[in-house]
Amino acid sequence: MTSSPVSAPPPPAGIASRIAKGDVTRDLDLTHEEFRAVLELADDVKRSPAAYRSALGGKSIALLFEKPSLRTRITFELAIQQLGGFAILNDGPIGAREPLKDAARNLERWVSGIVLRTFLQKTVDDMARWSRVPVINALSDMYHPCQALADMQTLREKFSDTRGLRLAFVGDGNNVAHSLMLCAARLGMHFTIAHPEGYEPETKIVAEAERLAAETGGTVSGTTDPYAAVRGANAIYTDVWASMGEEDEAAERRTDFANYQVDDDLMSHADPGAVFMHCLPAKRGEEVTDSVVESKRSVVFDQAENRLHAQKALLLMLLQ
Ligand code: CP
Ligand code: NVA
Repeated sequence: MTSSPVSAPPPPAGIASRIAKGDVTRDLDLTHEEFRAVLELADDVKRSPAAYRSALGGKSIALLFEKPSLRTRITFELAIQQLGGFAILNDGPIGAREPLKDAARNLERWVSGIVLRTFLQKTVDDMARWSRVPVINALSDMYHPCQALADMQTLREKFSDTRGLRLAFVGDGNNVAHSLMLCAARLGMHFTIAHPEGYEPETKIVAEAERLAAETGGTVSGTTDPYAAVRGANAIYTDVWASMGEEDEAAERRTDFANYQVDDDLMSHADPGAVFMHCLPAKRGEEVTDSVVESKRSVVFDQAENRLHAQKALLLMLLQ
């Protein structure tokens, strides 16, 4: 790996300059301090992008995608470019032509970091295990930490105090919900998920989120009743009913999730100042109506914008 560039601006005062573990394979790879530092740095990068123009000093970062992407791919590529680095893109299955441990040990000889979107969390974990350069999870079946960072940045912008905020997730208890739950618990929010039977979040991740919430004064709960979940909520969040790789289950899921659409009626049970959130892409007419996405309450494009700033902060803290 090349050494730090002389032109790199110092991180803002009080911010840890490095992420100790070296990888962000899941949300909890960040300590509390690092998590807050990334959010602070994301705000600073958003305010003063020019100050970070050469921060990566020409480092190259591989972006490996096993699944489609608009937001993650473009924002990582832009983030790297705007921080003075080079993004190398590669699409397709990882570990198919050769063992993943070989791919990892090739990549580490060429690039300073690896951003990886995969089907299995194990692929992210194995990449982090076998390569000596930082690995960032750009979505797996279990987590979407970059999305949750941008979402927390967005909530901090919309609400003066995120502590005690009521965040209701309506939908599938998988990757986006897992990361959101962990980050919300970290910030002392009250997180509720409403899901159909059989679509619960992972027990282990719920337990981790509950442990965090116990420390921060937040809470984590689940229900099968979307109306109960959104009552008085400050933010309502949903995600697609069939995630990438689950296309074969789409028809069955449309039936299972039929009562879980976020529409104007469901939104009317939330706090009058509540915002609507979605990681995107959205399937209008399924998990959310067009009118909710297009409403004044919708902050979905702020979330999308913040992917750029939050990921810049993550890259700076891992690679600078
Ligand atoms: N939200 C999100 O990760 O979008 P993409 O799948 O387009 O990257
Ligand atoms: N849960 C969705 C999120 C897409 C950003 C999926 O995994 O496809």
